[in-house]
This record gives sequence, structure tokens and C-alpha cells, in this order.
Amino acid sequence: DSTELKLPPAPHAFFPNYLSERTKILKFPKGFKYGVASAATQVEGAAKEDGKGPSVWDYGPHVYPDLYTGAPDVTNDFYHRYKNDFARLKAMGVNTFSLSIAWTRIYPLGRGEVNEAGLAFYDKVIDEAIKNNLEPVVTLFHWDTPLALSVQYGSWMSPKVIDDYNQYAETVFRRLGDRVKMWITFNEPRVFCSQVAVIPYTLTYPDGTNSTNAPYQCTHNLLVAHGTAVQTYRKLVKEGTIAAGQIGLKNDDNKPTPWSDSEEDKEASDRHADFFVGIFAKPIYVDGDYPATCKETLGDILPPLTPEEQKLVKGSADFYAQDLYRVNTAKAAPNGIEACKKNSSDPNWPTCQDNRVEYTSGAPGGWGYGQQADPRVNWLVNSWFALRDQLKYLTKTFPSKGGIYISEFGWAEAFENQRTELYQIVSDYGRESYYMDYLNEFLLAIHEDSIDLRGIFAWSLYDNFEWQSGLTQKFGLQYVNFTDPALPRYFKRSFFSMRDSMKHHLE
Ligand code: NOJ
Repeated sequence: DSTELKLPPAPHAFFPNYLSERTKILKFPKGFKYGVASAATQVEGAAKEDGKGPSVWDYGPHVYPDLYTGAPDVTNDFYHRYKNDFARLKAMGVNTFSLSIAWTRIYPLGRGEVNEAGLAFYDKVIDEAIKNNLEPVVTLFHWDTPLALSVQYGSWMSPKVIDDYNQYAETVFRRLGDRVKMWITFNEPRVFCSQVAVIPYTLTYPDGTNSTNAPYQCTHNLLVAHGTAVQTYRKLVKEGTIAAGQIGLKNDDNKPTPWSDSEEDKEASDRHADFFVGIFAKPIYVDGDYPATCKETLGDILPPLTPEEQKLVKGSADFYAQDLYRVNTAKAAPNGIEACKKNSSDPNWPTCQDNRVEYTSGAPGGWGYGQQADPRVNWLVNSWFALRDQLKYLTKTFPSKGGIYISEFGWAEAFENQRTELYQIVSDYGRESYYMDYLNEFLLAIHEDSIDLRGIFAWSLYDNFEWQSGLTQKFGLQYVNFTDPALPRYFKRSFFSMRDSMKHHLE
């Protein structure tokens, strides 16, 4: 009986997951990518092995230990354990694996001499993934800027980074392009440029750059680097050097649900979306240029895209990919945006608005505490379709012939760190219900809203190095005991629920 679900959905934290009744006969479309996502710095470890050069993440945490929660020297040791990790993923029924390449394994100094051992490592990883029926999706840049480039010229603050990134991208395309058919140039460039690239202690600002304009120097250089690498990729495909495939980037954040129907709140929501999604997505998917809101607000702080750059950037993605952990709520700044702007030292005035994020599901205390994590309901604004509305907004605003992917979604469960017994740790009911809710909404979006959703990637295959939070924020479908040198992995409850539900819903 194809309508029978093996594992019943977990009881929802607050109200029953009744929608599963509605979705249990629905299927994801043929060829649907069901994956998990990872990133080199977060899982690989082996920070100094086989000629790897230092990235800013091998530097900051060691030099400024007070500002970080540990360094990614070892983390999950994926570098030595990927075979075992893939075998475990196979058990989850996953058909796609999203990984990133460490730039400094390929070019230890960011440019110059290639490190053959680095390329050989990814050769082996890709082959092993394919052997396990895991289609590889490869991200070229997931925040691990080569330290040498930051020291030499301020990396993303300088247009020099465009050529160096393009050279790195071309080297990887040529080496892996016979087997990799889906590429991501940049992971969450908005998060990267507004936070990671401007962390002052990993970067000395070069001349003409300061903490105010740095995010937008980065935005500009990164967009042009993206466009340039996509052009390189398409040229290599066209001349038959590598196999045909698709290329894009991973966007983040979201268009928040307006707090009320008032014009002010709707405007706050629009403005937030322009600064947090549109600033990268509009140039790429619409017309080559930044949203008017961003240009008007930022003036000289945002370097303009020249007509040639606009041409390069427009259409430089074959699909739309969005990391979507939650949908937020936006409320207009209490005394109006003008007053807020005047009193704010931050010219990036989306922060002026009172961008409310309230918790509706999942217990408080985890990542996303205080944030909208239930994909359906937003109690505060009485929205029952937050996630589906979001997918509608994204596909309408940034249309792509290649469809839309949710390139990351996941949950760092509340109090996971306080649980001490293994059976408690792996009983991640909160995460399980998060995932089950999302699957329901994805199915409804496809079947009731005709959203061209082509794949979803859970973050993450196991607990791993969560940037400044180190190993303390856990997003895993598997638990890893980092205090044991053998780094044993354990399946969590959510892993099995995903396995059973997806087995049921995949064609
Ligand atoms: C998105 C980032 O791409 C990933 O690196 C991070 O671990 C997750 N969000 C969770 O914060």
C-alpha cells in the first residue's frame, strides 16, 4: 500500500502535525534532489595536511581564541572518514551530497602554485560519493578565504580577488567538471559580506576601506567574481572541455512576513528583502543591477555595477537556490525610517526597522531561539503559509528556468547541549518535527502552489564546526561525540524520520 507511512510523524511541539494526512499521498517529482549539505571548514579537519594552506578560519580562532569557540583543526575529520560518512548517508536514502572545496587545499596561498594533493583529495571524495549513488553538488567558496590574500591585498575588499577566484574556479572546473554537474560559486554571499568578510580581527582594512563600506566592497567584488567564474564555466562547457551542467549560487535570509497590513510594515518587509536577498539576487536573476532601495540608501558606499559588469552578472545562474531556515517578521521602525536613519550610525538601515523574529515552535534555547522556525504558522501575524508564501515570492521575484532549490534548511535544537545521556541526545524530537513540518510544506508548495521545487538539502549530515559557535551549536542529523578521539557518529531520531518519510515521498 503506497499510502502507508512507516514511521508516523512525531507529535508537534505545540499542536498535532495534522497536515501529514493531507500530504501522505503526495510525491516529490521525478529526479528530485534529496540531499544533505556540508562545508569544508566545518567538517574536514586536517587543517595542515597534504599541503593545505591557511584560510582565515585557521588563523582567527588561534590568534584571537577569546573571540571564537575553538578552531576547526580537527572537527569531524571528514578528510579521513568520508568513506564511512558516505556509507552512513546511503542508509538515509539521500541521493545528493553538497560539499565545498577548500580553496587553500588547491592554492595554499590563494594563487600561484597548485597543490596537486588537494585536487587528488577531492577526486577521491567525488568518486566515492558517486560510488554511493550520491550526486555531488560542489560549492567553490564557503567562507574560507585564503589568509594570504587577506594579508596581501585585503581579499574581498579588493578587485584583485576576482582574477584569483576565477583562476581557482577554473582549476577546479577542469579537474572535477567531468563528474560534477551542479556547481555553486558562493555560499550565502550576503552573510559572508556583511559578517564574515568584515570580521575585523581576521582582516586589516586596506586603504579606502572601513567597517562601513567593507560589506559593499565585498558585495561588488564578489558579484563580479561570480559572474566571471560563471562565464569561465560556460566557456569550458561550450568548448567541450568539461561536461554540461548547471551553475548558480546560494542565497540566504528571506522576505519577512509584514507585522500588519499597514503600508509601513509592508514597506519594512520589502526593504528587508531588498537588502538581504535582492542585493545579490536582483542583479543576477532580474536586470544586472542592485535594487533601487539599496542604491538610494547607500549612495557612494555601494560601488555601482558598470554596464559591462551588469551584462556579466545578469543571467549568471542556471537555477535559484535559497538557504531557508525560517521566515521572519518585519515591523516598521517605531518613529519612522527617517528618524531611525538619523539616529543610526549604520547606513545599512534595514537594521533600523524593528525586524521582529518571534519563536513559535521548538523550545527556546537553541539556535533560532526567538525566531520563526515553524514553516506554517506565524502566530503574531496570523499567517498560516509562511514557507509557501516565501517560495511563491522567491520564484516570482527571481524567476529561473532551472527551478528552485532549498539549498539548506535545518535546526539547532534547544537544550541539545544540556542533554547528557546518549539516548537523550539522539532523541531530537524538536528537530524531527521541524523536518517533518518542512517536508509537508514542500509537498504542498509543489502540488498546490505549482512551485518548481527541484531539491532540498538538510543542514547538516552531522553536528559540526558552527563558525564562531564552534562545536557548541548542533545542527546534525547525526550526533558526533567530539570528546572521544575516535569521533564516533550516532544517528539521531531525525535521521530515521527523514529516511522513512523521504523513502515514502520520493518517486
Ligand atoms: C548557513 C551556512 O551556510 C552554514 O555554514 C551554517 O552552518 C548554517 N547556515 C547554520 O548556521
